[in-house]
Amino acid sequence: MIGFLRSLFLGGEPILSEANARDAAAIAPLHAASFRRGWSEPEVETLLLDRHVVAHRALAGRTLVGFIMSRQVEDEAEILSVAVAGAKRGRGLARELLTLHLRRLAGLGARTVFLEVDENNKPAIRLYERAGFHEISRRPNYYAAPGAKPAAALVLRRDLA
Ligand SMILES: CC(C)(COP(=O)(O)OP(=O)(O)OC[C@H]1O[C@@H](n2cnc3c(N)ncnc32)[C@H](O)[C@@H]1OP(=O)(O)O)[C@@H](O)C(=O)NCCC(=O)NCCS
Repeated sequence: MIGFLRSLFLGGEPILSEANARDAAAIAPLHAASFRRGWSEPEVETLLLDRHVVAHRALAGRTLVGFIMSRQVEDEAEILSVAVAGAKRGRGLARELLTLHLRRLAGLGARTVFLEVDENNKPAIRLYERAGFHEISRRPNYYAAPGAKPAAALVLRRDLA
């Protein structure tokens, strides 16, 4: 009982489950803290209400500490975003979210999964390569930031069995 209460209020091992529109208020700030161009809460809510969008979340107690979101149309899916809260990074949480998410996409009929990633985003590239994604093309000068050299987007693909 004490363990359960501690995990509820302090957050123990994160628990993974499907996300829904009610998670928009928690996903938006995590997205904003993780990306240069953050999504607003209404933008996230619109995505989560889209019947083609599949999303999972990681909760530590009541706190959302990670999410992953894809759009799937027929047998193709695109990972739109994945993020883990700074304090929880480097512990395999994104890997767990991605594994669960790919299993769900496969169950929904996806045969191919695509995504775009900044060529300089080493943690994300490592995450995807370890999960079996490989580069199929590259879009030069895709990510521009003030004062920084524009970076290429790598387009990665993984076929699901
Ligand atoms: C990318 C991100 C989701 C990874 O989350 P995470 O929970 O820390 O990832 P994991 O702990 O599951 O690690 C995944 C792999 O990346 C590696 N990794 C994690 N942090 C790293 C770092 N700072 N540098 C290099 N590799 C790193 C891990 O070692 C692991 O590889 P391994 O299995 O070979 O050990 C997280 O860094 C994040 O939210 N970044 C900001 C948002 C973002 O860039 N999302 C991806 C957009 S495409």
